[in-house]
Amino acid sequence: MAADQGRKVFVIGIGAGDPEHLTVGAVRALNEVDVVFLVDKGGPGSELRDARLRLCDGVMEPGHRYRVEEVELDAVRNRGAGPYDESIAALRAQRVAAYAALIASLGEDETGAFLVWGDPTLYDGTLAILDEVRAKASVRFEVEVVPGISSIAALAARHGVALNRAGENVLITSGRRLAKDGIPDSVDNVVVMLDAHGAWEDVDEDFAVWWGAFVGMPNESLARGSVGTSRAEIARERERLRDEKGWLFDTFLLRRR
Ligand SMILES: C[S@@+](CC[C@H](N)C(=O)[O-])C[C@H]1O[C@@H](n2cnc3c(N)ncnc32)[C@H](O)[C@@H]1O
Repeated sequence: MAADQGRKVFVIGIGAGDPEHLTVGAVRALNEVDVVFLVDKGGPGSELRDARLRLCDGVMEPGHRYRVEEVELDAVRNRGAGPYDESIAALRAQRVAAYAALIASLGEDETGAFLVWGDPTLYDGTLAILDEVRAKASVRFEVEVVPGISSIAALAARHGVALNRAGENVLITSGRRLAKDGIPDSVDNVVVMLDAHGAWEDVDEDFAVWWGAFVGMPNESLARGSVGTSRAEIARERERLRDEKGWLFDTFLLRRR
């Protein structure tokens, strides 16, 4: 047991694609790691995996030696195979086992790092999975979280807009929840992420929208206006980018007028 206590795991937010969004803290942490852990989920995950490695390589000090330990997870949840909750639970168990194996590959007193897209505290399962790995007590390690610039911060900055006006609230939600719950009357501003199915198309046309796809990345696309006037343009852009890349990362802010 005592031998495991020197193991340290960084969870490093690396920003949402713009290399300039790597913080000084992230660069410092990256230069302390012996092992970079990569979790490949297939599909867009493979492209993001390469982007993560490029970001690392770009900021490692010359002569800093590290190795990469990689694990591949099943790419896509098979929604047809059983109840949704069961497939989520199976996916989760697979991840917990894979993360435990990665950490167990660390030598005594070695430091590893999970590189998390954007910020690790926003729509990312790494911290919860590490809690589960620790609860199982099969491997002991210390965790340090390094915050990153989220896709929300990147989007708001590119549009030069604040997420809320004075005294207003902001709801952060997913496309799935937007479709299910709509926008509660008490909410002034909504940030929507993970909108695979275009749930925003049902939003009232009076809302203002600031939209961005692949923000900070080479194929970035931005649009703003009222939902009514921007709906067609954003739908076209979403389709074009999805055709071009085969997948899409977009985020948008909606504001009640
Ligand atoms: C699993 S979440 C990860 C969020 C991430 N932890 C963060 O802090 O931004 C993935 C979602 O983040 C958003 N996203 C990530 N990178 C983005 C980017 N460069 N431009 C626009 N949206 C992005 C999209 O809504 C995407 O569906």
